Amino acid sequence: MCGIIGIASNKPVSINIINSLKKLEYRGYDSAGIATLANNLINEKKCSGRVKELEKILFKTPSDGIVGIGHVRWATHGIPNTINAHPHSSDDVSVVHNGIIENSDELKEQLESKGFRFKSETDTEVITLLVTEYLKQFEPLESVFKTLKKLKGSFALGIIFKNYSDIIIGARRGSPLAVGYSNQENYLGSDSYALKSMTNKISYLDDGELCILSKNNVDFFDLNLKKINKKIHTVSDEENTSNKGDYKNFMYKEIFEQSSTAKKCINEYIDSLKKDINIYNFPFDPNKINKIILIGCGTAFHSCLVAKYWFEELTSIDVEIDIASEFRYRTLKFNSKNLYIFVSQSGETADTAAALEICRENKMKTCSVVNVVESTIARNSDWVLPIHAGPEIGVASTKAFLGQLLVLYILCLKLSSIRKDILKKDYDKNIETLKKLPEAIKKTLKSESDIQLMAQEFLKARGSMFLGRGISFPIALEGALKLKELSYLHAEGYPAGEMKHGPLALIEEGLPVIVIAPKDKYFEKTLSNTQEVIARGGKIFFITDIKKRLMSTNIRFRLRVPFLDNLLSPILFTIPLQLLAYHVALLKNCDIDKPRNLAKSVTVE
Ligand code: G6P
Repeated sequence: MCGIIGIASNKPVSINIINSLKKLEYRGYDSAGIATLANNLINEKKCSGRVKELEKILFKTPSDGIVGIGHVRWATHGIPNTINAHPHSSDDVSVVHNGIIENSDELKEQLESKGFRFKSETDTEVITLLVTEYLKQFEPLESVFKTLKKLKGSFALGIIFKNYSDIIIGARRGSPLAVGYSNQENYLGSDSYALKSMTNKISYLDDGELCILSKNNVDFFDLNLKKINKKIHTVSDEENTSNKGDYKNFMYKEIFEQSSTAKKCINEYIDSLKKDINIYNFPFDPNKINKIILIGCGTAFHSCLVAKYWFEELTSIDVEIDIASEFRYRTLKFNSKNLYIFVSQSGETADTAAALEICRENKMKTCSVVNVVESTIARNSDWVLPIHAGPEIGVASTKAFLGQLLVLYILCLKLSSIRKDILKKDYDKNIETLKKLPEAIKKTLKSESDIQLMAQEFLKARGSMFLGRGISFPIALEGALKLKELSYLHAEGYPAGEMKHGPLALIEEGLPVIVIAPKDKYFEKTLSNTQEVIARGGKIFFITDIKKRLMSTNIRFRLRVPFLDNLLSPILFTIPLQLLAYHVALLKNCDIDKPRNLAKSVTVE
């Protein structure tokens, strides 16, 4: 994680660095820093906490300089304080780093034996001191190149040099890095999003590559230091998301955008005239796929889990799911008839990107379902299915989850129709039902006032449980994840049928238990599991799409979501759970867009 920015210009850069860092805060927000080159000195300023704290420091003591680097941190080595904040500078060199140097202890020992002293607890400082040492004999590019050869681990780096005051060197291994171009100004950034307000002309470094940029020029080098050319992409102009409008925060805005997110995604994939799904460009023969393996992390993994139920229900394809951080270290049996689908909002999650790399090395067919089409995962997969959700800023994923579900559902329908696993009339009916989804989402969002009342009941709780069966089980997991991410309340998602095998022991008088109970083949069974919880004192919040009143009077709260069809229930049932997590967090005064200890784009493993 962590966000990097570098600007080489013909005018002062500190204000633009601060503005870009604000955009990069979704990558980490426990400390921030900037270093510029002015008056033949490296001028470093940093602080713990948010970029706005750094801005206050710069307001009191401005930083001059037309070349500079900046960083927002998500701590790995060393607690989040001012000393450990980046940049890490010597008299001659200043470095910002995203990633982890795995052999930093060994390198530190070597440097200490040569008389170097370390100021911080970070792994990054070894880079600063190694480059400083090489600079005694070599030019900057060679010094960085020699340093990189000593490093194990992953990194994206931005480096400036006191005695070469017009350049920034960037290097990438594992962690993403982009270069942006403008008139009399060039940029280095963790992603195109950070650079979008300054340029839409972007190149992406591939693994092992370096770049050296000044205000008028950018040169790229491969891992043997041979000069190379890079393609310049024009990145899309997304809607302006830096504006919360009348919304209290981004997450709230993103929850309420979900009806239009769904509409946009459906319009992109459904051809209303032909009444068909317009996915045609399969880079493989859909009839020859035997198995689909869906891989993701966090919320994206939950969308894989929902999709497993869809693929099993609607296609003859065998399906497996995996958490990327587990997948990448397993002993796997690869088969050329497998299709590997990587699901990721950011397209930069380190574990998911590494899992994709393993599949590529083994020459497997790969597909990615991403929100950011310029991302590493999108660029590295054979085939990309964008979710068209627009930038998502809130750290806890909401509208991107909905977009992932939609695209996976649409892909599943299309595959089942090509393979003739589904009857034409059912295929047509499913497409028609899908078109009604945006309206149903709108209706579901109207339950907010009821959910606000529910949220009150969580304030004094010591924990909570989310239960569901079948396709509602992943939604129980997602509901629990949202609540813990946002409100720091312990929440456990469980398949309702498993309760008696252990978790029932957790039920005590007044424990809030959210039951996700659409009227599907599991409904009666879920109801029985609910009674078992009630009998032990659990306080039930029952979310359903049936109209009929339930017999049990012991249900504390009953919330009804609109019914569309059983297959789409996971999408509609997710919405009240997002709102519940949001309102509990609001009542507890938590930082909703930036929950503690988390980051939106997890670019370390
Ligand atoms: C982080 C975010 C989650 C997200 C996960 C996977 O943990 O906080 O909201 O689900 O990363 O991210 P991705 O970008 O790969 O979907």
